[in-house]
Amino acid sequence: MTGDVEDWWDATADAFQDEIDMDVGVNWDGFGHSNFELLTDVDGKDVLELGCGGGQCTVALAKRGANLTGIDLSEKQLAHARALADEHDVTIDFRKGSVTDLAEFDDESYDIAFNAWVFQWVEDLDACFAETYRVLRPNGRFVFSLPHPVYDVTEGSSHEVTGSYFETGRREISHDGMDVDQVLFRHTVSGIVNALVDAGFTVDRMHEPGTPDPEDYEPGPWGEYTPALMSKLPAVLILEAHKE
Ligand SMILES: C[S@@+](CC[C@H](N)C(=O)[O-])C[C@H]1O[C@@H](n2cnc3c(N)ncnc32)[C@H](O)[C@@H]1O
Repeated sequence: MTGDVEDWWDATADAFQDEIDMDVGVNWDGFGHSNFELLTDVDGKDVLELGCGGGQCTVALAKRGANLTGIDLSEKQLAHARALADEHDVTIDFRKGSVTDLAEFDDESYDIAFNAWVFQWVEDLDACFAETYRVLRPNGRFVFSLPHPVYDVTEGSSHEVTGSYFETGRREISHDGMDVDQVLFRHTVSGIVNALVDAGFTVDRMHEPGTPDPEDYEPGPWGEYTPALMSKLPAVLILEAHKE
């Protein structure tokens, strides 16, 4: 099921990186407007980014002294990540692969696993979380963000709920001028939390960043976010968990 997602990202990577023009940093909301400092104290730590995309987060943590591995499905995205690492003169172990199969990594080989804005493209969170649990050392942390599943079923301009929160699974979006459809997967908040628990994680914190003032938001690089709606509903869900 990852083939379609890989095709989409290979087809869109160059335009995406050009248009998003994201700074190096850990951008929990995928476009750089909620820069929570959740990954401090990374110096000397072994860190795995699960879906490293263009490498903006990977490079940021490598510059803070962490030993980074970045895995991503898309060779085109990885090419951007490698170029960014070269530009910033940091060494990162980039691998092509799916976050649902981490067989190439040893048990208990990482202190931190994380990602930002990736799990909306991943169907099998159970497989990913089980693998992440396996490769983390005891006390290892797992931190990730994704579009908030509640925001995701609401239409930006009307603020109407246009989808069912309970209809999880695959959806496809066609874009003008693209031969490949975008393939995404809906999850519920409880589905994500319970998948973490089932994998063995202890859930530490959940964040739904936001304020009630529309002036505090920007519409995102493609106008895909509506400040008025963002001031009503959380657009981002961030979870922190650890392995005992
Ligand atoms: C929006 S980018 C996020 C990249 C990065 N976290 C950032 O903030 O710049 C999403 C990335 O997830 C990757 N991806 C999606 N599904 C994946 C999977 N199953 N395994 C590995 N990478 C995946 C895509 O190829 C894409 O590069």
